[in-house]
Amino acid sequence: MKRIHACSVGALPEGEALRLDTEPTIALFHVGGEYYAINDRCSHGNASMSEGYIDDDATVECPLHSANFCLKTGKALCMPATEPLQTYLVTVSEGAVFIDLP
Ligand code: FES
Repeated sequence: MKRIHACSVGALPEGEALRLDTEPTIALFHVGGEYYAINDRCSHGNASMSEGYIDDDATVECPLHSANFCLKTGKALCMPATEPLQTYLVTVSEGAVFIDLP
């Protein structure tokens, strides 16, 4: 496992997302005071989830075909996506946001 520094607290405003050029590419979200990290690439096609529409209930809608995913579990909540997105552990420490990669 590898822990990476994603951003500083305050660099990602509430209700926004950040794409990280890691391997795999990760989308980091800040919703409801929490941070969530998922695979950036939609499980249905070639879309960046960091460009999706974020809802207050910690879901994100794919910008291409509108599948919804739970940011907490990565679960696909509606068609056309059926496969979940990988989620990653996020830790906030000393003013910074870290993500654990496998
Ligand atoms: Fe995301 Fe089709 S690419 S729902």
